[in-house]
Amino acid sequence: MQNPRDQRLGLPNLGLGVGLRNQHFSYLMQHDPEVDWFEIISENFMDNFGFARHVLERMAAIRPIVMHGVSLSVGSTDPLDWNYLRELKTLAEFVQPKWISDHLCWTGVSSVNTHDLLPMPLTAESLSHVVDRVCQIQDFLQRPLILENPSTYLEFKASTLTEWEFLSELAKQTGCGLLLDVNNVYVSSYNHGLDAEHYIRSLPHSSVVQIHLAGPSDCGQYLVDTHDQPVPAAVWRLYKLAQDLTGGVSTLLEWDANIPDFPELVAELKKAENALQGIIPDTPLQHSEAVSNPVDFQLISAT
Ligand SMILES: [Fe+2]
Repeated sequence: MQNPRDQRLGLPNLGLGVGLRNQHFSYLMQHDPEVDWFEIISENFMDNFGFARHVLERMAAIRPIVMHGVSLSVGSTDPLDWNYLRELKTLAEFVQPKWISDHLCWTGVSSVNTHDLLPMPLTAESLSHVVDRVCQIQDFLQRPLILENPSTYLEFKASTLTEWEFLSELAKQTGCGLLLDVNNVYVSSYNHGLDAEHYIRSLPHSSVVQIHLAGPSDCGQYLVDTHDQPVPAAVWRLYKLAQDLTGGVSTLLEWDANIPDFPELVAELKKAENALQGIIPDTPLQHSEAVSNPVDFQLISAT
């Protein structure tokens, strides 16, 4: 599955991977994993020197690892958290990841971490702010940072750029890579009435290093990025489009709630091979009662 000819920022196509989750630790210690690579949530391993670190060390010896963070808060107006960055760099020295990624978002302000990936106003001013921070982070980590488009539920009236314009400029000005989450494109485009295919066609495809796949929940008038079910057909179609446009980049299936056994997870991942052949899995989008409170929806629609 790996195509060594496809190098982006010097970063290879790793093939098909999944997240390294503790629900699968015992299985993985007893079986050769049928995946090409693993992605870890960096924060889950930073201060963890127990069994989880042991499993990580074992997997890193046999498969490429990518570090994916959720606390960088690159869009916040707080100063960069250098303690966090030092811990991230220390973990990277241990793991030797193929790359380090996080999200285009902010997670808090005044040193409060909301543990949510919050959307940013997309303006020239916020772009300049993020460009400056990405350059500082890359200089410190001594490796390119890969940033992911988030799922969003509101937009800012102050925004003057589309998300794809913002990401394109960010990649151009910093040399950072892009993690294209096609599920997030689907969720955000549905919630904001955008054309998901146009979003993907408008990105700088040579900057895309990795793709995320996941299954969202249909909450009626909006979608929520739940990562708790199989990938629906609409997301597979966007995946096929993205891989056609990029020429083929590393693929990662995210599944973070109602996590299936490892073989079932692998079976879902392998559907990517069919999708790449144009055989789109006929998986319906599943309805969920999650976030069905009308108050929540008023928040989402007040944009
Ligand atoms: Fe993602």
